[in-house]
Amino acid sequence: MMKGLKKWRLFSLLTVMTVFLSACGEDYISALKPAGPVGQEQLNILLLTVVVMTLVVIVVSVLYLTAFMKFRRSKVGENVMPKQVEGSHTLEVIWTVIPIILLLIIAVPTLTATYKFADVSAMDEVDENGNKTALTVNVTAKLYWWEFEYPEQGIVTSQELVVPTGEKVYFNLKAADVKHSFWIPAIGGKMDTNVENLNKFYLQFDEESNSLKDGVFYGKCAELCGPSHALMDFKVKTLDRTAFDAWVAAMKATEGNVADANSADLGEATFANSCLGCHAISGVGGSGAVGPNLTTFGDRNRVAGFLDHTAEETANWINDPGKYKPGNLMTGKYNVSKEEAKAIADYLMTLSVEK
Ligand code: CUA
Repeated sequence: MMKGLKKWRLFSLLTVMTVFLSACGEDYISALKPAGPVGQEQLNILLLTVVVMTLVVIVVSVLYLTAFMKFRRSKVGENVMPKQVEGSHTLEVIWTVIPIILLLIIAVPTLTATYKFADVSAMDEVDENGNKTALTVNVTAKLYWWEFEYPEQGIVTSQELVVPTGEKVYFNLKAADVKHSFWIPAIGGKMDTNVENLNKFYLQFDEESNSLKDGVFYGKCAELCGPSHALMDFKVKTLDRTAFDAWVAAMKATEGNVADANSADLGEATFANSCLGCHAISGVGGSGAVGPNLTTFGDRNRVAGFLDHTAEETANWINDPGKYKPGNLMTGKYNVSKEEAKAIADYLMTLSVEK
């Protein structure tokens, strides 16, 4: 009877924990639901560490409580002196060796993985035609947006990283102003973007993002960088190789795109006069732009990284960017009327390389 009750209790506890833990995070942003081998291995190390730590906590608690209960004065009497173990050779060896073993269990896989994830030698490999074999993306973090340059393809985009699935993608990471940190939680651990040096690592994206809630993975800035740090989001679109190649071709086809200052469309004309100086609408080029490249604006998932992707929110943003992202560098750089902002927003929504 007692045994059955205990089993039932254990079973219900496990059920509750399973239900509770299964709700831990969403698959487009959770490090607990990795969508690639880097994130998976990092999660495995995390779990291994948690198991070891839990084991230590349990053993220490049991020893403590046992001593606590066993040697209570009310139990053993006033004048009992327990066996003294000070200087015990055996005990000292045991409590030195066990932690060493536990630390080795954690350290060996952690160090192995750290060196493996830092191996970017494939970045320089070329095929018989002298073309790079691996895809490299140069990431530049800026207050408060992200620029993604594909040097081999000669294209550049911003705010939405587009990558192929099932292969290693290599990243050169740097910052243009202050220190930021590049993090796609569901894909792999973060890495700092610095002003003074280039950090390199690779990630692999094993899941196509169109099955996700918003059709994208979420990326974050993971280093406190200013008043709008928490809003410095980006998105990641993962496509199969064929779709990715088609996207690259569509980006290349935008070469030379400019807005016409004499356009009959108020949005295009105003954009040409007030915005084009900082924001390119051709995806061909390199990094170093003053403002985010807007070639794919209509394909994006968010406005300014976090607002709903609608013409209305875009117009709100243009009217007063400082209200939405305090400290951003677009504030006060231009002067357009409410009507013009609405027209620019409608025009921006038509900028697309996806069908
Ligand atoms: Cu950029 Cu925090």
